[in-house]
Amino acid sequence: MDAYKLLITGGTPLVGETYVSGGKNTSVAVIPAALLSDEPCTLENLPDIEDVRVLAEILEGLGAKVHYDAVARRMTLDPRGVNTCRVPYKQSQRMRASYYLLGALLGRCGQAEVGYPGGCSIGARPVDQHLKAFRALGAEVEERGAIITAKGRMVGTAVFFDRITVGGTINAMLAAAKAEGTTVLYNVAREPHVVDLANFLNSMGCRVKGAGTDIIRITGAQHLHGSTYTVIPDQIETGTLMIAAAATRGDVVIRGCIPTHMEALTAKLLEMGVAVSDMDDAIRVRTVRGHRAVNVKTQEYPGFPTDLQQPMSALLTRASGDSVVIETIFESRFKHLTEMQRMGAHVRILDQTAIIEGVSELYGAPVTATDLRAGAALVIAGLMATGTTEIYEPGYIERGYEHIEEKLRSLGAKIWREPLEAR
Ligand code: EPU
Repeated sequence: MDAYKLLITGGTPLVGETYVSGGKNTSVAVIPAALLSDEPCTLENLPDIEDVRVLAEILEGLGAKVHYDAVARRMTLDPRGVNTCRVPYKQSQRMRASYYLLGALLGRCGQAEVGYPGGCSIGARPVDQHLKAFRALGAEVEERGAIITAKGRMVGTAVFFDRITVGGTINAMLAAAKAEGTTVLYNVAREPHVVDLANFLNSMGCRVKGAGTDIIRITGAQHLHGSTYTVIPDQIETGTLMIAAAATRGDVVIRGCIPTHMEALTAKLLEMGVAVSDMDDAIRVRTVRGHRAVNVKTQEYPGFPTDLQQPMSALLTRASGDSVVIETIFESRFKHLTEMQRMGAHVRILDQTAIIEGVSELYGAPVTATDLRAGAALVIAGLMATGTTEIYEPGYIERGYEHIEEKLRSLGAKIWREPLEAR
């Protein structure tokens, strides 16, 4: 249980300028990818978040030399000291992206022993497609006692994913980067972080083509050299800030983002009546009239991202009319709406569909974050509500949002923490 709670007194429009940090889901892929190099790598623009710090510790445990300068957002990573390919269950459970160590260690050492991944409880989240790709590349894979063991020489091949998976795509790319010959991955994820990983691998001397389309070709290289690489901005943080600006009927410029990554959200906000304008590397969001209800169905990129469904559905609780939100990626991603019922939200949930009847007022209440984006959704709910909302288990939010409280405060939000004893 977290030692503090987050308090928000809502009702203040967010106004001003803020910036976006480096991408969480790209950082947690690029950091393990550096293990494939034969030389030190420098990664820039890594967000100062819990997931990055945990991954750095896990890599140190493997024998890599890691130095993370959280102020400069820079990590130097020398993988030459890696002396084990084993990540114990207790470590792997600390985050979802620990599964990338399977692909990265297979690529580096030809073997990996990694406990089942942890991370947000938003559905069953199997890894069968990851393992299928490793097997196709030549690994013998065993699952025993919540530990996955994979061993073998990676040889280029064709892999056809049965469903689109971000984690599976990235893990297969990691395992294939040093494989002998060419690997072709079909039906892959097209998310911006898949492209970012491909760019990083290419900067180390690998040949990855097609990232961003649904077929990726990887020609492995025996030796990958060091590289200095800057990760892309976080599109989910960008989207969360955009939604927060709309939710408070504010006027916010979000700098340092990539507007083309935001098109699915931008289209929905425009449909709601929110004014969104794109600049080169910034987006301005402001509310000029009431918000209309809209329907949202999550999809793989470039569709509406599941990671923004939770903040978006929080916003829709106060739109005028009924919205239907269909979550197609994860089975259990509406827990924030159940919490928001305590704040006056009118919601019916039927399996993976939420029917949201917009209300004119939400009121502050004690609520609990059950996962990262649920936490972000509850922050948005708190910013919209009359009175003070208390969010318990806010530590989830720190896993993925850099300095979110400071960023929101700089825009005028009344958000602060209190130790739990003060309850
Ligand atoms: N799936 C399978 N088998 C597999 C892999 C996935 O059935 O082998 C299913 C999953 O259960 C899910 C769907 O396929 O229903 C898509 O899962 P995907 O593999 O794309 O998701 P993930 O790799 O577990 C990453 C992000 C998530 C993000 C999803 C979708 C990381 C560390 N996590 O998860 O991020 O929601 O892709 O975009 O990159 C978050 O940031 O809050 C978060 C949960």
